[in-house]
Amino acid sequence: MKILVTGGTGFIGSHTVVELQAIGSEVIIVDNLSNSNIAVLDNIEKISGIRPGFEQFDLADQALTANFFERNHGISGIIHFAAYKAVGESVDKPLHYYRNNLVSLMNILDGMLTHGITNVVFSSSCTVYGQPDELPVSEQSPIKPAFSPYGNTKQIAEEILHDTLHAYPQLRAIALRYFNPIGAHPSALIGELPLGIPNNLVPFITQTAIGKRQQLRVFGNDYNTPDGTAIRDYIHVVDLAKAHVVAINRMINQNMKKPLEMFNLGTGTGLSVLDVIKSFEKVSGQKLNYVIVDRRPGDVEKVWADTSFANNELGWKAKSTTDEMMLSAWNWEKALAVNEKSNS
Ligand code: UD1
Repeated sequence: MKILVTGGTGFIGSHTVVELQAIGSEVIIVDNLSNSNIAVLDNIEKISGIRPGFEQFDLADQALTANFFERNHGISGIIHFAAYKAVGESVDKPLHYYRNNLVSLMNILDGMLTHGITNVVFSSSCTVYGQPDELPVSEQSPIKPAFSPYGNTKQIAEEILHDTLHAYPQLRAIALRYFNPIGAHPSALIGELPLGIPNNLVPFITQTAIGKRQQLRVFGNDYNTPDGTAIRDYIHVVDLAKAHVVAINRMINQNMKKPLEMFNLGTGTGLSVLDVIKSFEKVSGQKLNYVIVDRRPGDVEKVWADTSFANNELGWKAKSTTDEMMLSAWNWEKALAVNEKSNS
């Protein structure tokens, strides 16, 4: 089966490409490389032995996207990762985010309708729940007003899917609501490649430990949580990637219960920022230089997933432990440092 993976050179996309190749799928990647690197293709090939197809263009460009679909036949399904994802940047550049994240989705849906492609998996986020009233958060929890334009693009994208599927009953979509993806492939050949200063916790931890950053700032220790730091549900990117393979198979094998399904993808366990730091210190054997500072505006206090629906319906479960996730992230950071040294 041939699968189009948009954003396939990115963090979650690259891991998903490898998992798709492992089950024998033919993968074609479309990516504009705005937040990723062409060398990822070489590393995917080193892992799987197969070089995925690749085209570099912007899916927000309607003509280029239409032209891509005209030239590429036999696509069984699409996994749509390509999007901007920095919460803070989205507050400063809202139009950038709305245009990129929403227009690309609409162009893809147009392409699907024109060329009879019926299946799409969409990258959504637990951000759609805001600060949930009840924890763990299930798929039935209400969607809360978005905290940021980025979060709003995920909510609106889900609505676009809902309305489009209503109008065109031949279409199928699965929206996967990710909690906090971390870690890297066990080969340490692919992983997260933040541009500039990382926004997210785990790359900031590993970059501090390797000496690229001076000190990690822990944003707030006055939350209503056992150690006062904010709680998230961190999930290994390889576990997350595997869920995409399950989702695309579910669509192609016509096992869906409804045309549009939503699933929470997390481990079901909440970890505080200090829990994550402790695990990192344990697996790396290194003390981390960190300081407690004020809360980061826009952060929710605590969120973790009720995973029962995904576990039961998809027959999928996140397997990795916190220590395994942190060790893989650390091995990736060390591999990057070795590469940078040999390139300099
Ligand atoms: C955010 C988004 C999420 C999005 C993800 C992708 C929200 C509520 N969440 O996740 O939807 O998919 O970004 O980028 O909008 N922290 C520190 N110091 C740091 C960095 C982070 O203490 O230097 C803390 C944060 O305050 C938070 C936790 O670590 O408590 C995780 O932060 P982060 O990795 O940025 O992810 P989220 O904000 O949870």
